Amino acid sequence: MKKFDIVITGDCNLDLIFNQFNRLPGFGEEIIANQFELALGSSAGIVAAHMASLGAKVAYVGAIGNDHFGNQFKAFIQSYGVCTDYMVEKTGFKTGCTVVMSKDEDRANLTHAGAMAELSPSDLPWQLIEKTPFFHLSNPYVLPHFRNNLPDLYKKLKEANTVTSLDPQWDVEETWNTNLKALFPFLDYFLPNEKEFELLLAGNSVTPEALSTISTTTIIKTCGSAGIEMLQSDKTKQYTSYLNEQPVDCIGAGDAFTAGFLTATVEGKTLDDAIDLGSKAGALSTTTAGGKVPYNSRQDFADSFNKLF
Ligand SMILES: Nc1ncnc2c1ncn2[C@@H]1O[C@H](COP(=O)(O)OP(=O)(O)O)[C@@H](O)[C@H]1O
Ligand SMILES: [Mg+2]
Repeated sequence: MKKFDIVITGDCNLDLIFNQFNRLPGFGEEIIANQFELALGSSAGIVAAHMASLGAKVAYVGAIGNDHFGNQFKAFIQSYGVCTDYMVEKTGFKTGCTVVMSKDEDRANLTHAGAMAELSPSDLPWQLIEKTPFFHLSNPYVLPHFRNNLPDLYKKLKEANTVTSLDPQWDVEETWNTNLKALFPFLDYFLPNEKEFELLLAGNSVTPEALSTISTTTIIKTCGSAGIEMLQSDKTKQYTSYLNEQPVDCIGAGDAFTAGFLTATVEGKTLDDAIDLGSKAGALSTTTAGGKVPYNSRQDFADSFNKLF
């Protein structure tokens, strides 16, 4: 009997978000920010929170330290109904934290990765993964034990008989050299944004057409407000977004899209329907600030969407 619809892993940090200040402080200065928020951070954590809010049964795996921020991270993600039983604690490391200094459309981020960077594939709950139909990884490039081992990891996941997805996010080392040809035979859904996809194609010296014929991987490329392009070996298809012409901000839109897409996919919906739910979740996330989940149930999601779009 399956206990969860999906195991989600990847980055794991809190965000300390400072707003309403005139300029960034220089060394030796102090500047007052008139607004502050402590929020759930990390792409994987935010996808987990959105999916649980949409009704999926989610186990999240990330690495925290034995500290207050670790407890706070757990409390945040549990409040959305995500299971944290399989999270790991790394002794001697601090829970990851990003200071976000946010002004208009721009943000200056300062991150201490700490415990999250210590997560390794051997920390994953492999027995649980074997019993869970779906696995998602987000932001492997901030995880040193994952970033150069993705083909091996996904091979092992395939052997565990799970359906897999990957959101690469930005390569913080900007090498963009993940071996996609080795990875794709074991990967079911690849979820980069437009820029990430372009850089990864260049890093692999491969065209999208050639890449899509390597395997049965479905590539879902998100293009911000312009929508989505889906590529499979025998076809490509464009989808428009539910355009929000005046987004509050687009932080977390990709994670919300991924959560909507994966929720419909684990429910056995068609690819078109999954992209549609993802587009709705992505659009809705642009109507509120930051990566917050702006609904607390599937009904609330539908009601908010129908009111705003
Ligand atoms: N202004 C917008 N209006 C409506 N939907 C949007 C907007 N911006 C983003 N989205 C939705 O969110 C999805 C992901 O956004 P994108 O910016 O491509 O990802 P990321 O946040 O990972 O960079 C888009 O494919 C789209 O469905
Ligand atoms: Mg993204």
